[in-house]
Amino acid sequence: MNCAIEIQSRVSCMYVCLCNGLREADVRTAARLSGETRPAAVYAHLGCAFECGCCASFARNIIEDSHAEGCETVWAAE
Ligand code: FES
Repeated sequence: MNCAIEIQSRVSCMYVCLCNGLREADVRTAARLSGETRPAAVYAHLGCAFECGCCASFARNIIEDSHAEGCETVWAAE
């Protein structure tokens, strides 16, 4: 298997929130579809809420990265 594909696959399957069983791909997709920037709002879009809160910082980074990727896509398309 191509290493880049394998790494991307592992990243997408990585759990962000153990309390809610959310994976990185779930958070990225919800952030993009909802347009929300706050982790609590993205989690609400997924039908859940923070429980222990340990994932908040990690989720915030993923959401910011997700929106930044969206901007790069728009810039690349122009
Ligand atoms: S790990 Fe996400 S709320 Fe606990």
